[in-house]
Amino acid sequence: MVKVVQTTGPGGIEVLTVASVKLDPPAAGEVLLRQTAVGVNLIDLYHRTATEGQYAIAHPAILGVEAAGVIEQVGPGVVDFSVGDRVAYCMVRGAYAQKRLIPASRLVKLPDFISDEQAAACMVKGITAYYLLHRIHAVRHGDTLLVHAAAGGVGQMLCRWAKHLGATVIGTVGSTDKLPIAQAAGCDHVVLHNQGDFAARVKELTAGRGVDAAYDSIGKDTFFRSLDCLRPLGLMVSYGQASGAVPPFDIGVLAQKGSVFLAKPTLATFVQDAAELRLLADGVFEAIRKGAIRVDIQRRANLDDVAAVHADLESRKPLGPIVIVP
Ligand SMILES: NC(=O)c1ccc[n+]([C@@H]2O[C@H](COP(=O)([O-])OP(=O)(O)OC[C@H]3O[C@@H](n4cnc5c(N)ncnc54)[C@H](OP(=O)(O)O)[C@@H]3O)[C@@H](O)[C@H]2O)c1
Repeated sequence: MVKVVQTTGPGGIEVLTVASVKLDPPAAGEVLLRQTAVGVNLIDLYHRTATEGQYAIAHPAILGVEAAGVIEQVGPGVVDFSVGDRVAYCMVRGAYAQKRLIPASRLVKLPDFISDEQAAACMVKGITAYYLLHRIHAVRHGDTLLVHAAAGGVGQMLCRWAKHLGATVIGTVGSTDKLPIAQAAGCDHVVLHNQGDFAARVKELTAGRGVDAAYDSIGKDTFFRSLDCLRPLGLMVSYGQASGAVPPFDIGVLAQKGSVFLAKPTLATFVQDAAELRLLADGVFEAIRKGAIRVDIQRRANLDDVAAVHADLESRKPLGPIVIVP
């Protein structure tokens, strides 16, 4: 039997329960993975709470979308992985478990210089930062960028990596205790997004020009003012909705704000194809090796502590990378 954390239904942290489940042998194309470290992401909280919309899932469900571990058994037809391989994955729900079955096509092999804990903490956030900075907008030396929630998980990676690529980074945070975290992550300027007019401050910091791209993970509370931060023909990247979904709006607004572009990307699109997933993951591992991004685990929990970890994430405390050691 395998220890897992599963929900009893959608709701608060009280729906998270520790249970034991029996696993079948791996089917064709699958492997049995013994998980050594599991990542925690905001999407886990959305899966736990949502009753409708894009994050609503069927319950009971095992939450968690990323982990690292060692292959214990391979199913028929698996040719590119062997027993004993160290691997990681992301965006495959069911990670809060000691062991799981998973399609081999969703796995990446880990290089020796990446620990299992680093891999479990960087697959979602690192690959997101990678595609946002290299595919959605190919950041160039001299670009000026706005990064909301700059002290957060994805936010810190975006800032540090963008700085490494030669950009000037204006970060925003929601409380003064996060100012030094955003500065340490490489921000040239840090602004409070919930006090005063952050768009006016961004215009001031860019001598009236505006930023080349705005990375907005906050959504409802910041979206329209983020559009005001862009230079003409700038790019708005709406990649999250921590404060709620952006309400429907007239696309004519994009013309009024200076013929700006809008992207609404999601990680799931970028990791469907096995070759592309492995390319992006290797890019993240290489960025860690070079020091362009860092994954310094701040907290280790076990499966019995998942509810407490969710409560801390909900509280918006500055946390740093957390892994569950199952
Ligand atoms: N599109 C994609 O491919 C993709 C992939 C991964 C993650 N994401 C999104 O990226 C964002 C960051 O993810 P993360 O895991 O790294 O989380 P995080 O940034 O560590 O946490 C979210 C942060 O959002 C800010 N925030 C502002 N208003 C908020 C509100 N009303 N409630 C809660 N938080 C609020 C808080 O920072 P302040 O206190 O500084 O405001 C909070 O710490 C999330 O929105 C997530 O859904 C998107």
